[in-house]
Amino acid sequence: MARRIVILTGAGISAESGVPTFRAADGLWEGHRVEDVATPQAFRRNPALVQRFYDDRRAFLGQVQPNAAHHALARLDAAWPTGDRGELLLVTQNVDDLHDRAGSRRLLHMHGELLSALCTACGAARRWERPLLQPHSCPACARPDTLRPDIVWFGEMPYQMERITSAIAACDLFVSIGTSGAVYPAAGFVQWAREAGAETLELNLEPSAGTPMFSEARHGPAGTLVPQWVEAMLAEL
Ligand code: OAD
Repeated sequence: MARRIVILTGAGISAESGVPTFRAADGLWEGHRVEDVATPQAFRRNPALVQRFYDDRRAFLGQVQPNAAHHALARLDAAWPTGDRGELLLVTQNVDDLHDRAGSRRLLHMHGELLSALCTACGAARRWERPLLQPHSCPACARPDTLRPDIVWFGEMPYQMERITSAIAACDLFVSIGTSGAVYPAAGFVQWAREAGAETLELNLEPSAGTPMFSEARHGPAGTLVPQWVEAMLAEL
């Protein structure tokens, strides 16, 4: 039985909560091209546009709630052993706080968080709930108007890669939930897990670019598939 589990989630797990996914049919993200809102160049070119875009996304979090899939992963986290008897790490690409609110604790936000701001002057990251387009000062260095969204933009290094790499190298089950497999390095995790000899399972609405890489794939809504998978794992405990 699998004991050391790494779970990767993407936008699909939050879709049933009402958070739009990234790669909609029109190729736009909430009406914007990704390169106009999610790159350091875009922020230098038009900081107000980028701040407003993320201010809107942050405010929207108040209108959404964790769904059955987030809650199921939090139940698994609470019940799954730690140390010699097992391990679990939930790595999310999502910048929403729905895993946090559902109660997952062994959780990494590899692409940053909407509810965090990063100071471009001193480098400090701090919890932040208000709009960044309003006058503000950095909670760490007190300089005015230096904060940007604490989001990993295209061309920037995802967070906690060392911890993620070593968890995958030591895992015996890797599960990917609600992600298109279009953005690296996350899209390559399944390959690393295979190299580590782990079983690999995809739970996604539809086949993804990465489906052929997985030893098993189940297709359907996360709100149904994830609780089913979690209950089966808990029954084996
Ligand atoms: P995508 O929008 O690329 O993919 C979402 C996936 O979820 C697709 O494969 C959908 O089929 C699937 N999906 C949709 N609804 C679902 C449901 N109810 N249940 C299960 N699956 C469902 O989002 P990501 O793969 O998360 O990066 O995108 C990866 C990264 O690209 C994001 O983290 C973001 C973006 O640019 C940054 O912001 C840095």
